[in-house]
Amino acid sequence: MSQAKPLRLTAANGEVTFSGEQENPTRVMYYNQSIPGPLIRLRQGEESVIQFHNALEENSSVHWHGLRIDNAMDGVAGMTQPPVKPGETFEYRFTPPDAGTYWYHSHMRSWAQLAAGLAGVLIVEEKEPPQVDQDLVFAIDDWRVDRKMQFDQKSLGALHDWAHGGRLGNFITVNGNSEQVYPVAHGQRIRLRLVNIANARVMYLIFHEPELSIVALDGQPVEPYQPEGGRIRLAPGQRADLIVDMAGSPGSRSPIEAIIGEYAYEIAQFEYVDKVRREQPLDSPIELPANPLSQMRLPERFEHFPLLMQGGAMGNLREAIYFGEKMDLRTLARQYKKVWALNGIVGMPEEPLFRVPRGTAVSIDVDNDNRWPHAMHVHGHHFIHDRSPGVWRDTVLFGRGEKGSMRFIADNPGKWLLHCHMVEHMAAGMATWFEVT
Ligand code: C2O
Ligand code: CU
Repeated sequence: MSQAKPLRLTAANGEVTFSGEQENPTRVMYYNQSIPGPLIRLRQGEESVIQFHNALEENSSVHWHGLRIDNAMDGVAGMTQPPVKPGETFEYRFTPPDAGTYWYHSHMRSWAQLAAGLAGVLIVEEKEPPQVDQDLVFAIDDWRVDRKMQFDQKSLGALHDWAHGGRLGNFITVNGNSEQVYPVAHGQRIRLRLVNIANARVMYLIFHEPELSIVALDGQPVEPYQPEGGRIRLAPGQRADLIVDMAGSPGSRSPIEAIIGEYAYEIAQFEYVDKVRREQPLDSPIELPANPLSQMRLPERFEHFPLLMQGGAMGNLREAIYFGEKMDLRTLARQYKKVWALNGIVGMPEEPLFRVPRGTAVSIDVDNDNRWPHAMHVHGHHFIHDRSPGVWRDTVLFGRGEKGSMRFIADNPGKWLLHCHMVEHMAAGMATWFEVT
């Protein structure tokens, strides 16, 4: 689809059902009356126009997660643009430089709006994509619902969640459905784009297909590799592109599972139709074409910026600075619902974490000094986690106590957000910014 006609994206309140059996629909917020929002396909290197219309009763904005685009189009309400008020329309206009799998979501009170459903998948098509028989998208979400499948409104914004692992749900959907069956044929080659659009849940997925390779992470091509045991971990915000040569026998089924606690739950399944597509799998290469980003080489030396992450339940944070004032954790939690600090500061500081001229090689040296994992996301740039050389990411998970560096060339001018993508953690203080001049 070329972008001659601008796309229109409307956020609104509405109702959906997640399965055929559900009696009473669930109240949600959605884009274009669909959960997840419409699949947007753009062309690499071509300008696209998306008109966002806000039909909600509250402010909103749309962030294009992972796209290296102009700062003014990044969609962070209150920072890169004013909030889009009810009844208003905002025109997003950008040219995606890299092909791959991305997503879009509300960046206004995302702890509420993302939880309620304001997210969708965005694909930037390669000029020469690998040959496949199906291009499937799995937008994986985690909802907290009651017995009647109603969105659990009461617990929205609960301090307990914000100080622990975020709002974890009890109901997982793939493309807005809890029991979707995807028809496949033996011998088909499938590209499968996984996107974790949950507020806070780290997804541990299990595939039972033997011929499965990961070909991209967070939109960026990687050298294809087979994940051990078909297991894939996706933190909130992360994506993985897979190429699967479907090897099951006609008539069989192959579940896709998510591990929650000690159990594996089926979240979707492949169903092999009664015919064989190919006796021999395709032998064309599965490697994705390089992106402009793939050409970027990091230098040996960096400007280093430490990022100490503290807070949360069972943590060692005693006090922190909020709006320039030192406060103890109790006051912060009770009065302001803030429980996380970056370098001793809660929430958006007046001064950025760093301000550097365009082209500076930076290393954000993370020390995750608390009891929780955090999915750290950098806006406007991809970075390399020093543990995984050569892999460009926009979101990376730091386990409790873990240290590691996010390294990149700050080459996109503007003020950019850096935050935990467990969006309750972001709301409760785990967000900062940097500026490229
Ligand atoms: Cu996916 Cu700041 O967001
Ligand atoms: Cu976090």
